[in-house]
Amino acid sequence: TFVVTDNCIKCKYTDCVAVCPVDAFFEGPNFLVIAPEICIDCALCVPECPAEAIFQDTELPPDQAEFLPINAQLCREWPNITELKAPPEDADQWNGVADKLPLLER
Ligand code: SF4
Ligand code: F3S
Repeated sequence: TFVVTDNCIKCKYTDCVAVCPVDAFFEGPNFLVIAPEICIDCALCVPECPAEAIFQDTELPPDQAEFLPINAQLCREWPNITELKAPPEDADQWNGVADKLPLLER
């Protein structure tokens, strides 16, 4: 599966959603996650993310490992998102800010 990681938090550009052929993305207030049961490992979403926040689980940077269970859990709680939408107005200001996990809204 592919995994959405820290830099998506408060950026949430949603370009990833537009290309996913199986609608594997689920939407929280300021973050998206991928459902591992749905993702078919096509990798199409990776280059679409302006925040470079998506990694294959086998290539997750060690400091992003906690996002694997976070994606698996929150995809069960959040609604499916299937279409591009406008990002937060301040998304660009948060792109590249490290360690945003404390800011994740559930
Ligand atoms: Fe969707 Fe492919 Fe990204 Fe998985 S890797 S979330 S199937 S676009
Ligand atoms: Fe997040 Fe990147 Fe998608 S910022 S919403 S993973 S395009």
